[in-house]
Amino acid sequence: MADKGLREVIAADTHLSDIDGEKGTLSYVGYDIEDLAAHSTFEEVVYLLHHLRLPTASELDGLASFLAEERDLHPFQVQLMGTLAEQTSPMSMLRTSVSAASAFDPDGWDESSDAQARKALRLIAKTASMLTTYHRLRTGMDKVTPNPALPHAADFLWMLHGTEPDPEDARALDTMFVLYADHTMNASTFTARIVASTLADMFSAITAAIGTLKGPLHGGANEEAMKSFEEVGKPENAEAYVRDRLERHEKIFGFGHAVYKTYDPRAKVLKRLSEAACERAGKPQLHAIAEAIEQTTFEQKGLYANVDFYAAAVFHVLGIPTDLMTPVFAAARMAGWTAHVREQYADNKVIRPGSRYVGPPSQAWIPLEERG
Ligand code: ACO
Repeated sequence: MADKGLREVIAADTHLSDIDGEKGTLSYVGYDIEDLAAHSTFEEVVYLLHHLRLPTASELDGLASFLAEERDLHPFQVQLMGTLAEQTSPMSMLRTSVSAASAFDPDGWDESSDAQARKALRLIAKTASMLTTYHRLRTGMDKVTPNPALPHAADFLWMLHGTEPDPEDARALDTMFVLYADHTMNASTFTARIVASTLADMFSAITAAIGTLKGPLHGGANEEAMKSFEEVGKPENAEAYVRDRLERHEKIFGFGHAVYKTYDPRAKVLKRLSEAACERAGKPQLHAIAEAIEQTTFEQKGLYANVDFYAAAVFHVLGIPTDLMTPVFAAARMAGWTAHVREQYADNKVIRPGSRYVGPPSQAWIPLEERG
């Protein structure tokens, strides 16, 4: 019997990403995440995950143009967004909108490898517009049409705020998209691969993955981390906050990891990004609060920050509302989810683990009138 959380189980061979939890390293197709964060764009990482090599300049241009052309939404999707904006939370909106997007994909039910590749890129492109359109409509603003001249992350900020983004902010978000793009067999990716293994379509697999990411023990942690910064209010309060939560056996969100036993390499990059972005936004106190929580959590429980902790501070100063933080994580992870779904299709076997029966032993059936 495998351990309860399946930590020791290898569920698939993958060419996409690799983690060393003891050393605290992450790589995509063999490229270290620190190098990718420093030198690559999100578009380049999308290409890498889907082609298993870095693109040439013209290949990168081709992919960036395809994403730019596909970013806008079908009018029905905009209409749907208006209804969802009044009725539901952002992650539920995203789950529903991605599911609905299957009805408008020009490749329809074509399940060929080329069609899957185009569907994947369209999903990556359109998630950004789904989030920004939803947010603008729910706050009484008009939808902003994508600007195909902008890279993906910059266009996200443009569509969200309706103003030309500061280049440093755009680069910060681009780096976050790179960091969030893939992460081996995490819960949402595993979900996507299970759905794909039944040969259900890409949209079904990604819809299920979004549902999995929603939980606070997975993607929802960045939003909870942001709420903790607000509750703490100033660095001096961090120690009491952490001590109090630990005494009540409550989690400190943005800490701990199922695989990393040391610092999450993404959190290292994000800590630097947070310091710079908070300083630029005139909110150094926010970074100081985060650092104080981090220091106390390590001293009191020996826990390291994970990707979601400093990400919350960066998202906040980029003007991304707290309840959009997990959906933005999903927008970036769309790159990895879709690549994993395609990898699963390419070498498939239905994923169907066993279970150990722990219920009552064999029982004689009792007629209804004799029960109770
Ligand atoms: N705050 C307080 N205590 C914690 C935390 C935390 N964030 N994380 C782990 N612990 C404690 C547990 O209470 C447990 O303590 P105990 O042995 O005294 O009972 C011990 O550390 C082991 O914890 P598990 O939950 O068993 O660790 P696991 O590896 O199964 O879980 C998880 C990892 C779910 C990420 C956990 O650390 C957690 O809940 N963190 C908070 C939520 C979070 O930040 N999630 C985002 C993860 S990154 C991502 O998904 C993108």
